[in-house]
Amino acid sequence: SKANKYKIAVIPGDGIGKEVIEAALAVLDALASAGGSFVLDYEHFDWSSERFKTTGSYMPDSFLDVLQPKDAIFFGAVGDPTVPDHISLWSLLLPIRQRFQQYANVRPIRVLKGIKSPLADCKPGDLDWVIVRENSEGEYAGQGGRTHQELAIFSRHAIRRIFRFAFEVAEKRPRKLLTFVTKSNAQRSGMVLWDEVAYEVAKEYPHVTMDKMLVDAMTTRMVLRPESLDTIVATNLHADILSDLAAALAGSIGIAPTSNLDPTRRAPSMFEPVHGSAPDISGKGIANPIAAFWTAAEMLDWLGEKADAKLLMEAIESVCGRGILTKDLGGSANTAEVTDAVCTAIKESA
Ligand code: NAI
Ligand code: MG
Repeated sequence: SKANKYKIAVIPGDGIGKEVIEAALAVLDALASAGGSFVLDYEHFDWSSERFKTTGSYMPDSFLDVLQPKDAIFFGAVGDPTVPDHISLWSLLLPIRQRFQQYANVRPIRVLKGIKSPLADCKPGDLDWVIVRENSEGEYAGQGGRTHQELAIFSRHAIRRIFRFAFEVAEKRPRKLLTFVTKSNAQRSGMVLWDEVAYEVAKEYPHVTMDKMLVDAMTTRMVLRPESLDTIVATNLHADILSDLAAALAGSIGIAPTSNLDPTRRAPSMFEPVHGSAPDISGKGIANPIAAFWTAAEMLDWLGEKADAKLLMEAIESVCGRGILTKDLGGSANTAEVTDAVCTAIKESA
């Protein structure tokens, strides 16, 4: 057949990660068999807190060699109430992000059809953003000790490449508007360098308008004037916080996707929902699978399957538009019901 074949590493991880990845694989299967132009060849990995508790490690030492030949990594979530979060995060997710130099963490977010923002009068289209998160250093450099707490490390090289990436994203969107987030008034070392490189790189992109926001003021602008923003670039920690706010403003953390990209394409990129393992709802079958579905669409888009990615997003929005929503979005459907509805919408539209 003419289908393009991709090798995908599937790492569901912990808690609702397992539930939403299973749901997303069902949706991807529906898409592939409804005339999709792709075939996904999955390899499943049990890398998780369970594995850590039984074997002493989250993943084998050879994880880079195991993952390198893959075209993409599809990841659920990591985090377990019985393991300190800094251990779980630094044993699975962050080593993959850092060792593969997936330096651009891309978080599109918008108010989908049928979903109500907690902001009064915020309609679809009023909130439509892409948050670009520096994903290799900054506050997550993993250096520092107890005296000086965590040391934030910023390098000209990493700042330049994330700004170039963010400008490329902004340039491809209709408004060509990039807002860069900083805290250079207080953090006078790294963040001053961040600003300096921002203005340097801006000269390479004369067709993009750039504006600057201090991170604290940025939170108020996101809430009060969401329509004034388009593409946003921020440090590892700032973007982490702002993107949870963005997800809540768009309806729920349960819809938000992330891509951890190596834009050079030397290493496989990794795709995951923004949310964590949600131990408070895990095992109940009520997790919102939309974040994992949207993540799957972002993965297809990155692999070059743009038509199928678009079809998947349309199926998601048609289901949301008919009010088939999980509890976090004010509905009463469970994970399986939303999944079945999206699979049916895919079959009907193909
Ligand atoms: P969380 O995202 O797991 O949950 C926050 C809140 O949102 C909870 O009330 C949860 O029930 C709800 N929620 C999250 N996803 C949902 C979904 N798909 N549908 C419906 N409701 C949803 O964040 P939290 O509670 O701070 O962390 C829990 C664990 O997950 C921790 O161990 C943490 O370290 C880990 N974590 C892992 C991440 C990752 O793997 N990328 C990201 C964030 C947290
Ligand atoms: Mg986060």
